[in-house]
Amino acid sequence: MRRKVVAGNWKMNKTNEEGIETIKELRNLVGEYKNVDIVIGAPSIMLADLAKVSAGSNVKIAAQNMYPKDSGAFTGEISPVMLKSIGIEYVILGHSERREYFHESDEFINQKVKSALAHGLTPILCIGEKLEERETGKTLEVNSKQIKGGMAGLSVEEAKKVIVAYEPVWAIGTGKTATPEMAQATHKEIRKVIEDMFGLEVSNGTIIQYGGSMNAANAAELMAQPDIDGGLVGGASLDAKVFEVIIKAGN
Ligand code: 13P
Repeated sequence: MRRKVVAGNWKMNKTNEEGIETIKELRNLVGEYKNVDIVIGAPSIMLADLAKVSAGSNVKIAAQNMYPKDSGAFTGEISPVMLKSIGIEYVILGHSERREYFHESDEFINQKVKSALAHGLTPILCIGEKLEERETGKTLEVNSKQIKGGMAGLSVEEAKKVIVAYEPVWAIGTGKTATPEMAQATHKEIRKVIEDMFGLEVSNGTIIQYGGSMNAANAAELMAQPDIDGGLVGGASLDAKVFEVIIKAGN
């Protein structure tokens, strides 16, 4: 049985103080949920404080990005060594917003995945097709390319540690969720791509989250699908009480 992982992605929202308050509230609300892993992806400026506020609880903190070098002349970037030094355990990589606005390629994302793994960070590798790609029948092709690119060159042991987040771009922030059946069908295809790359043991164990307008009303039905192992939640993760309902659905 795969454990569900419910992760929030705050994106570029909240002040440091608001972030701290939300984590304090969340850790009190979700302390009893033992059957789900809970992660919050926060802006980098808050990570150190949030790691302290969440310490000793079942709420883990993720970075939303990182640079795939340990240190050096990369102005404005943050390294996996820095993340580890403040107790961060997860990093969201290859989010569609980074692919779109910051032109991140599969090759660059692959470097980040490898670097994260080398430093003991759990990568949450985001993939997903755009609307025109779905409408022109390219969903599998696009997701397959992003999985193959993002996980290229990993050993079986490394591949086992990667969390995949399937986020159809047309469902992000639009209120248009994939139906549970539609999401399930795509998750199954993605798992098959992972099987072809790394074998059945890895693909059976890989956590594949769904993301894209997941909310308190639709989370339970989505996560009830056999190949949907949790969620990567944007807007509905900003409020601790709303996010708690989604976490409960995954517990
Ligand atoms: P929304 O839940 O706001 O649609 O965002 C999904 C997402 O991009 C999470 O990474």
